Amino acid sequence: MPPTTYERRRGQLETYFDRTAVDAWKRLTSDAPVGRIRATVRAGRDEMRQTLLDWLPADMTGRRLLDAGCGTGALAVEAARRGAHVVAIDLSQTLVDLARERAPKDLSGVVEFHVGDMLDPALGQFDHVVAMDSLIHYPANDIVTVLTKLASRCNTSVAFTFAPRTAALTVMHAVGQLLPRGDRSPAIEPVGEVKLRRLLATHPTLEGWKAARTSRIARGFYISQALELAHG
Ligand SMILES: C[S@@+](CC[C@H](N)C(=O)[O-])C[C@H]1O[C@@H](n2cnc3c(N)ncnc32)[C@H](O)[C@@H]1O
Repeated sequence: MPPTTYERRRGQLETYFDRTAVDAWKRLTSDAPVGRIRATVRAGRDEMRQTLLDWLPADMTGRRLLDAGCGTGALAVEAARRGAHVVAIDLSQTLVDLARERAPKDLSGVVEFHVGDMLDPALGQFDHVVAMDSLIHYPANDIVTVLTKLASRCNTSVAFTFAPRTAALTVMHAVGQLLPRGDRSPAIEPVGEVKLRRLLATHPTLEGWKAARTSRIARGFYISQALELAHG
């Protein structure tokens, strides 16, 4: 059988985040100096991570959280500090190794790191799932399918981000197309908010889930929108 769009894109992302972009990503997620454009991305990402953390309970003792597409693990560590048992998974072995290395020693055992697909059913059941910027490279239909699978393993909230279809993002996308192939990351897939909400509201598997809080963060070259699906 030919690979699905999800599988094809997942393969490209694994190569990109495990090889092509690993050094840039290590630097972006550290305190090391970066250029002006990347500094806006870093600031926007910090704000987004804080927004997603603010949507979680202050005390997460006894709760299980999935950090879906954890990258270098910053969100996973913060959730673990609130008492959550965190399962953090990413396609990139290199980023997961770095996340393990960066995680404070007193949290070892509280954050469980895995390499693989966030949809692996063996990860178990969760109270909360967070997917920060890990679905932005998938088309809207795949995002919705992923969310239905994550929601089926979760009982309280699934928060994720998408790349909103804005004029600014369309321009950045066009500029990205002008770069030589080898320098480009897998394309970000801009998603219209109205369409996404409609797909989520009408999906039979998402009965019992509703779109709750949302927050769009636009800082220079970083534009991303968080949306929370809440159960009940
Ligand atoms: C833009 S990075 C964000 C990383 C992290 N969430 C953060 O905000 O720092 C996207 C990450 O999602 C991961 N990813 C994409 N699709 C995935 C999948 N299907 N399963 C697990 N990880 C995935 C990539 O490997 C990459 O590390």
